[in-house]
Amino acid sequence: MTMKPPAGRFKDAASTWNRRFEGDAFLFGTEPNVWLREHVTLWPAGGRILSVADGEGRNSVWLASKGFVVDAFDLAEVGVAKARRLAERAGVQVSFTVADCTAFDWQASRYDGIAAIFIQFADPKLRAWLFRRIAEALKPGGVLVLQGYTPRQIEYKTGGPPLVSHLYTPELLRRAFAELEILELSEYDDVVQEGTGHNGRSALIGMVARRRLVRPGR
Ligand SMILES: C[S@@+](CC[C@H](N)C(=O)[O-])C[C@H]1O[C@@H](n2cnc3c(N)ncnc32)[C@H](O)[C@@H]1O
Repeated sequence: MTMKPPAGRFKDAASTWNRRFEGDAFLFGTEPNVWLREHVTLWPAGGRILSVADGEGRNSVWLASKGFVVDAFDLAEVGVAKARRLAERAGVQVSFTVADCTAFDWQASRYDGIAAIFIQFADPKLRAWLFRRIAEALKPGGVLVLQGYTPRQIEYKTGGPPLVSHLYTPELLRRAFAELEILELSEYDDVVQEGTGHNGRSALIGMVARRRLVRPGR
């Protein structure tokens, strides 16, 4: 399944994110993302979950505290070091890896659930590659919980990359995840309070999608 990954990340992404994660404060706070919290009941108790580009660990650590078996990776070693400390303080185990998304050990049909929360670092080419890895990494019946910003977020300026090409529309997600069964797809505005990194009125999109037990056409 290893298609060669494209190089679609921001220049110097690792050092940029490491700098952002310096210091004791958590850039996106220590509470889990609300969309994730609202949909976690779709995952089987004790299931294996992957948190993609997990940052400082707010989502992975909370998931582990709920009894899930959690893998998490992120490009920024400073963020992952903070995530490890957060897990230690919470008394939970998360299997953390420092890795670019193109170097992570993606395994097909491994996860009951995948959390993809604000992973809009990828340009369209890398995004297509990454979304494919995510869809394949779900077990049949496994569920993806994804949250991002829509293009209107450019006006709000309360978080996310300032590039329309990295933001999501419902059509884009429907096309990208055509092989999954979309259970929920909502475009909405809300006030987000996730540390100083995501703060204020925001143009959001949330998707919940399940890998079909049998792929269409097979
Ligand atoms: C907006 S933050 C979101 C972090 C986390 N998902 C959360 O909700 O708190 C985006 C994350 O993507 C990570 N990242 C950026 N480029 C990446 C890449 N090429 N591979 C893996 N992670 C990357 C950054 O280090 C950062 O932690």
